[in-house]
Amino acid sequence: MKVAIGCDHAGYDLKQEIIVHLRAEGYTIVDCGAFSRDSVDYPDIAATVTAAVLEQDIPGVIICGTGIGISIAANKIKGIRAALCSDCYTARMAREHNNANVIALGARVIGPGLAVEVVKTFLSSSFAAGRHQRRVEKICQLENTSLREE
Ligand code: RB5
Repeated sequence: MKVAIGCDHAGYDLKQEIIVHLRAEGYTIVDCGAFSRDSVDYPDIAATVTAAVLEQDIPGVIICGTGIGISIAANKIKGIRAALCSDCYTARMAREHNNANVIALGARVIGPGLAVEVVKTFLSSSFAAGRHQRRVEKICQLENTSLREE
C-alpha cells in the first residue's frame, strides 16, 4: 500500500519517524517534504500531499505543529476529507464514518509513539458505508455549494 506524507518544519522529526515505521510495515512512501527542519509554509505542503492523494488515489498523512493549519489548508481542496486525530478511536472513526482520505497530526501535541499507532490505525481502517454513505455524499455536495446568489 502506498501513502503520501508531508509536514512543515514543526512536523519534520515526526514525519521521519513515521516513515521508518510505515516502511517497516511494508508501506511505500510518497514523501512530499519538508526535507529538513528549515521553515516552510504548511499550505504548500498540504497542496503537494493532497495532489498525490487525489492523483494516485492513496491515503495521506500531514503534520504541522498542531495539525490545525495543515488540516484547514488540506480541507480547502475538493475531494479531500482531512481529519485531525490525536487518538486511535478518532483515527478509526475518521475512516469508518467519514471516509477521511487524509489524517492530520500535531507534532507538538502527541508523542511519536502514539502518533505512529494513530497513523497505523487510520491506514488499517476502512469506510463502513451504509448510513454513513449518504452523509459523506452530503459533504461532497457542500463542496459544490455557493452561499452567494449568482
Ligand atoms: C509553525 O510554527 C506552526 O504555526 C505550524 O506548524 C502549525 O502548528 C500551524 O497550524
